[in-house]
Amino acid sequence: MRHADTARLVLLAAIWGASFLFNRIAAPVLGPVLTAELRTLIAGVALAAYFAFTGYSALAMALALPADGRIVACDISEEWVSIGRPFWQRAGVAGKIEVRIGPAIETLQQLEREGAADSFDLAFIDADKENMDGYYEAALRLVRPGGLVILDNMFQGGRIIDPDNNDFRTNVVRDLNSKIAADERVDRVLVPIGDGMTLARRRG
Ligand SMILES: C[S@@+](CC[C@H](N)C(=O)[O-])C[C@H]1O[C@@H](n2cnc3c(N)ncnc32)[C@H](O)[C@@H]1O
Repeated sequence: MRHADTARLVLLAAIWGASFLFNRIAAPVLGPVLTAELRTLIAGVALAAYFAFTGYSALAMALALPADGRIVACDISEEWVSIGRPFWQRAGVAGKIEVRIGPAIETLQQLEREGAADSFDLAFIDADKENMDGYYEAALRLVRPGGLVILDNMFQGGRIIDPDNNDFRTNVVRDLNSKIAADERVDRVLVPIGDGMTLARRRG
């Protein structure tokens, strides 16, 4: 392994460790998966990482991007994002990541108003589950044909298969699973790693 690769791994481990206490980042195994997926996908242009939190998945993606790759990282909390920024800087990828603070539905609408529809290679959705259907629809408009939408936590810790669980958040994710499974706009697969990750590739 090259020294630079080792340094990257150490940084990933460090940011994961910093976030672990809050138990809110994407499962650590997703970083390498996102990286591998990106390397097969990215033509070297734009990429959206939604919901930065402490920056773990944004960092994993930024490391996989070519030098001219760009990430728009959305989050409602400047406080969380400020934890990740120093790690992006130490990894030399801060210039690839544009942070937009605010309710993500509004940020995504703003991106469309700016003419970003059909332009992103990838959208990664990992925020409040209540708005997940809206994020999925917006992401489908923002990614190009052939682009990928990734959604995390599609198992909800197993609650989606518990018929006695009908809380709002679980129902939103359960309904979205059913919707995507029958969605003719995408090729899709629900990968059983972490808390369940759906890959949906927009058809051309
Ligand atoms: C599970 S964390 C994201 C973890 C991140 N993908 C990672 O792996 O490091 C969810 C994030 O969604 C953000 N969030 C929650 N509601 C939001 C909203 N309405 N708009 C934008 N961001 C929101 C939270 O502030 C939090 O940082």
